Amino acid sequence: MNLILLGAPGAGKGTQAEKICEKLSIPAISTGNMLREAMANGTEMGLKAKSFIDAGKLVPDEVVIGIIRERLQAADCKNGFILDGFPRTIPQAEALDEMGVRIDRVIDIEVSNEKIAARLSGRRVCLKCGATYHVEYKAPKTEGVCDACGDTLVQRKDDMPETVLDRLKTYHEQTEPLKDYYAAKGILRVVEGQEAVADTTARTMQALED
Ligand code: AP5
Repeated sequence: MNLILLGAPGAGKGTQAEKICEKLSIPAISTGNMLREAMANGTEMGLKAKSFIDAGKLVPDEVVIGIIRERLQAADCKNGFILDGFPRTIPQAEALDEMGVRIDRVIDIEVSNEKIAARLSGRRVCLKCGATYHVEYKAPKTEGVCDACGDTLVQRKDDMPETVLDRLKTYHEQTEPLKDYYAAKGILRVVEGQEAVADTTARTMQALED
């Protein structure tokens, strides 16, 4: 199954991508994680992306389209994939169509702006392996240490309150129109994401069957 997860920053796309990945054994592809990895490695693309990400803006379409075009050619995508954070603009969705990529389902996770602020201020991430935690809702076994690889957990720079507001504005202006784009194709399913992770997961799994 080829899936797209849509939703505001902090709606829980990464969290649900992990659950679907475990259930269906298909890779979860996060453009955000790939860009952060490039930033950590100091590559040319990472340096270019940094100023956009730190300001809560989108990285230019041609950069992320190039990343996805290459990633979808990998052998592990043969039986399906989950796109987490791509597409984020109409031109990115059109580029996916032009690549001849068939999308079976688009899951839109809906969460209010108020909840988003609480989730993002408490999020902690591992820059080494990409694992995500929350100080209240998903705490690591040892405070500040990644359960998976033992590296130090940090707060993402773009999770600071002022930047979160910019990310939400960018989302409403540039990404939300994708709901209509995929609704018109009959493949959009809206999932209520306000409650506990397990509730959202149950709704997400149901939406994959509908
Ligand atoms: P990206 O990393 O994709 O950021 P995002 O979409 O803003 O999404 P997040 O990772 O912030 O949130 P999420 O929805 O995955 O939530 P999560 O599961 O972590 O992109 C970062 C930046 O890269 C962008 O701003 C942009 O600059 C650039 N970029 C990336 N892709 C791009 C593209 N295609 N085009 C252009 N630029 C691009 O959950 C959040 C927190 O809440 C976690 O702590 C989690 O534990 C907790 N949580 C999750 N669900 C629940 C729940 N139900 N109850 C309580 N807590 C919960």
